[in-house]
Formats: sequence, C-alpha cells, structure tokens
Amino acid sequence: MRTRMAGELRPSDEGTRVELCGWIASRRDHGGIVFLDLRDASGVVQVVVDPSVAGLEAGHRVRNEWVVRVVGDVRARPDGTVNPELTTGEIEVATEELQVLNEAEPPPFPVDERVEADEVLRLRYRYVDLRRDRMQRNLRLRATVNRAIRGAMDEQGFSEVETPLLIASTPEGARDFVVPSRLQPGSFYALPQSPQLFKQLLMVGGFDRYYQLARCMRDEDLRADRQFEFTQLDAEMSFADGDDVIGVITEAVAAAAEAVTGEAPAPFGRLTWHEAMERYGSDKPDTRFGMELVDLGEVFAATEFRAFQQDAVKGIRVEGAGSGVGAGDAVMSRSQLDALTDRAKKLGAAGLVWMRVGEHGAIDSPVAKFLSEAEQLALVDATGAEPGDLLLLVAGERMLVNRVLGTLRLDLGRPPVTEGGLQFLWVVDFPLFEALDDHGRPIPAHHPFTMPHADDVSLLDSATGEDLLKVRAQAYDLVLNGWELGSGSVRIHRRDVQERIFTLLGISTEDAQARFGFLLDAFRYGAPPHAGFAVGIDRLTAILAGEENIREVIAFPKTQSGLDPLTGAPGPIDPAQLDELGLQIAPRAKTPEPKTP
Ligand code: AMO
Repeated sequence: MRTRMAGELRPSDEGTRVELCGWIASRRDHGGIVFLDLRDASGVVQVVVDPSVAGLEAGHRVRNEWVVRVVGDVRARPDGTVNPELTTGEIEVATEELQVLNEAEPPPFPVDERVEADEVLRLRYRYVDLRRDRMQRNLRLRATVNRAIRGAMDEQGFSEVETPLLIASTPEGARDFVVPSRLQPGSFYALPQSPQLFKQLLMVGGFDRYYQLARCMRDEDLRADRQFEFTQLDAEMSFADGDDVIGVITEAVAAAAEAVTGEAPAPFGRLTWHEAMERYGSDKPDTRFGMELVDLGEVFAATEFRAFQQDAVKGIRVEGAGSGVGAGDAVMSRSQLDALTDRAKKLGAAGLVWMRVGEHGAIDSPVAKFLSEAEQLALVDATGAEPGDLLLLVAGERMLVNRVLGTLRLDLGRPPVTEGGLQFLWVVDFPLFEALDDHGRPIPAHHPFTMPHADDVSLLDSATGEDLLKVRAQAYDLVLNGWELGSGSVRIHRRDVQERIFTLLGISTEDAQARFGFLLDAFRYGAPPHAGFAVGIDRLTAILAGEENIREVIAFPKTQSGLDPLTGAPGPIDPAQLDELGLQIAPRAKTPEPKTP
C-alpha cells in the first residue's frame, strides 16, 4: 500500500514521488490549503493538501486519527517554514491523491504526549496510548534489549528452551496464580513464578547451557517495579560456578545496554552483601551517589551518652543541609528534621540524632551537650563533615541501624532514574538465611535449593539460632542504580545436602517429597553441579528507557490494584464454566471493597 515510511523522508528525497500510509496526527486548515501531519511507525511528515483540486476534497473532512493513504511528491518547505524539531522538518509532501482508509472517532485523549493523560484512561484505551512517542520508543527499546540478550546468550552457547506454564507450585516465595483443572475437578495447576525447577531438570537432562525469555506470574502486591506478570532472562549452566554465571550474565546485560545506548557500560562493580549493608545500608545499593554510612563505633567507644552505648552507632553526612556558612539549597528546617525523625522511628529506630556542623567543627544539636569535645571533633573527622553539613546518626542493633540509614540515604540523595549513568553492581555472598521465624527456624533468603558457601557448610551442623544467619550462600544479585535487577545462585545438586537444608528449614521429608519430589528424584539419576540466574527484563528495560515504573515498558500492564481497565480482567466467569470445573464461589464473610483501578 505504500512505498516509503513517513519519518524517513529527508531533503535528499526531494522530487521523489511517494506513497505513504498512516494516521492524521494533526491538521491545520487554512481555508484554501490544509496542512496535515501524517504519522506512521517511523515518525511524522507534513503533508500539504489543496482541497479545491478535484479528488482532494477529503482534505477538509479528515480529522485527527483518521487513517489515510497519501500519494504525492516530496518537496523542500518554503523558506521560513522549516521545523528544526522534526527530523523531516525540511521537507513536505505535496499531495496528489488522498484516500481515507478509515474514519476515527475523536480519541479519548490527545495522542500528542505533551498533553498529560490520566493513567487509567491511558490503560483503558491502551491502543491509542501505544501510538504515543513514549510507548513507541519504549516498546521498540524493549525489542532491542530482547534481541541483544538473545544474541549474547546464543553466542555463548546457550539454547533457548521453553518450559511449561501449567505446572505444580514453584518455590519463589510469592503467592501462586492457580488454574483449575477441568479433567481433574478439584485439582489446580499453578502458573510458574519462575522456571526454576524446570531449568534444574534441564541440567539433569544434559542441556548444559539453557536460557529463556520466560514469562513469570506472581500474585504479589504491585509496585513501581512489580507486576503480576513479568519477563525474565532465565539461565542455567552445568559444571559451572558462580563466577561463570556472573561472566555470562554480565555479557548479556552489557550487550543489551550497549544496543540501547550505543556504548559499552562501565565495568560492573562487585561488593559482598556484608559490605553493601555496611556501606550503603542496602543489599541493592544505589552507587550513583555517595553519602555512605560511616561507622562511628570507635568515636563513641567510651561515650557517656546512653543513647550511643549500643551495638552500633553509624551516621550519614548530608552535604549543605545544615545551616550557616556552607549550607546550600538543601538546608533542612526543624520541621523537616522532625519528619525525618518520625520516618526513622517508623523504620524501627529508637530515634534519630541530627547535628548541624558549623565553622571549626562546632556542632549544633539537641544532644551536643552529652558529647565530649573530643567526641565531637572525632565525629567531624570521621564523617569528613564541612561547615554547613548535616549529620544524621542512628544507634542500635547493627543491621537495623544499617537499614534505617540506608533508607534515609535514599530518601535524601537518590537521583532520578535518568541521571548518573548506568551503575551495574554484583552483590555476592548473600546470607543463606534472611531471618528466623517464630519457631526459631531459618527462612531462606533465596530459595531452598541454594548451595551454602563452601567455607560455611560445616556451620550448618554446628550453628544454632542467630548464628545460622551467618552462614553465607553461593548466591548473588545484580543491581542497577539501586534496583534489584536479578538474582541467582549455585544450586545444591546432592540429595544429602538438600535434605539437610530441608530439615533446617523445618520442611519434613514427606512435605519435601510432596512439593519437590520430582526434583529430588531427578537428583538420584546423575545431577551435574549447576548454577544459574534470572534477570528482570521489565526492570532492565525501564531503567534503560529512563522510566520510573515498569508499566511504561509493558504493552498491556495491570494497574496498581491489579486490574486491566482495557479488557476488564479479572471478571466473573460463566456459571456453566464454574460448573464444568466443579467450582462454587463461597459467599465471603466480608465483602471486599469494590476495587477502583
Ligand atoms: P527472583 O525471584 O529474585 O529469582 O527473580 C529474579 C528477578 O525477576 C524480577 N522480578 C520481577 N519483575 C517484575 N515484577 C515482579 N513481580 C518480579 N518479581 C521478580 C526481578 C528479580 O530480580 N528463579 C530465581 C532465579 C534463579 O535463582 O535463577 C528467581 O526467580 O528483577
């Protein structure tokens, strides 16, 4: 139907006859002459129509978003009418034929993205929203990411294998979405939270290097970086250790970043989990800015100030947020400091101590009178504080102090997603267990198939209670600008080690057999040592696209409350369908609030 794409036309095409198809992005009817902006997938070009010419009468009639076909000659725009903001701004198409392919009702919101549109409206009419530059750009960028990743994985000898969507439950720790079985009434499939167990089976099956751009489904609370459905670059390799996996994934992710930005990303950093927690108060540190946590244990080792006689005292320096000489735009008022204190308390801290640093290291703080002069000087020295800076200190249990300060650090210093470049970071040596449950049993930090650190295996036998939390895992995360991009681990491939872990986790042999029996059975038939990883493609794409919310890089996402305003999902199903599945909807004791998207 066409010979060229609208957005590709350039002055070098002057004099060429072209046939174009697309949507009317805008029209300016000057009575005699009508100027149309014709939009197709490649961009926009100006089309000039003289409706007084026989056959071109439709020029007056067409409206925004009508679908048309235009035949005409490319010519230079007259002097003074060049539009430097358009790549096609130096030329226009003089129309000889204008064919209306389809009329359109006025769109529910302008496709011109300079006009704000409500998000629910955007999702309700997503097909209109998809015409906007932002969505066109983001989804094409996503395709570029997928292509680069597939290329890099193929090149490294990985084969893409698809795994099933109707499965038994996977152990990723979120709620499953379930699908009732018609042939086995009363039985349910689970949708995969990840292909975890299948990829391990593929290793037992001798596939050696597997990957998949895998759809995963998790029924969890939605946030800016979480959807029910998302995509992973999921990979697994045999006869490999953590560093092998890190190498392979670094290649694939760097290839994606380079394909989008045109340049290789800076070398990926690496921190141990312990160091990440100590320096940034987070297992997914945003290293685009400083404001690192400073350990003040030595400064206050012999302090008389009761509030600081704790497991740990740490602080962060907020440049220029104090007062007086040296303070800048970031100065924090007393009410802002009170709000910050409330925030710290909500995060679990006993309190927050603030100090404004003046000239010659003088400290203005409600607690200054409790600190010796030597302590005040040592504090300024340890934090590197300058006049005008603000210091925020928290004392208490070490990990709590780290987390509270890590959160305040992000609140106060985190740059927008588009600033500070791409800071990829591997966080390695995660703990095997993240906490103890009410029965004192450890809760796995990753999933129960994660191999303990070789040096810590013996601890599994001897350690009890809190000491178990010191056991390190051969588990690693990839972090980008403070987002958890992915995680993986070396897996347990021996049944005896696996059983020891299940026992520690309080999973009985029967329970383990019922839930993962097929994997444990497979391990009896020659399981190779193996390790793997999964990268969140939605998150990677969002950051590369400079978006704060992964919804902006998904063609048809759900709203924050899990609804799809376009199709109306989720909705009731036909009673006959329920009947066929052997299901009945029980009346709820409490009717949930009707959900607005
Ligand atoms: P994990 O559960 O850490 O590991 O998931 C890996 C990555 O998937 C992305 N992700 C999500 N993205 C959008 N919405 C969600 N709801 C969501 N949940 C997870 C994140 C996350 O880092 N099987 C293991 C991997 C392995 O061990 O090989 C797994 O799924 O970017």
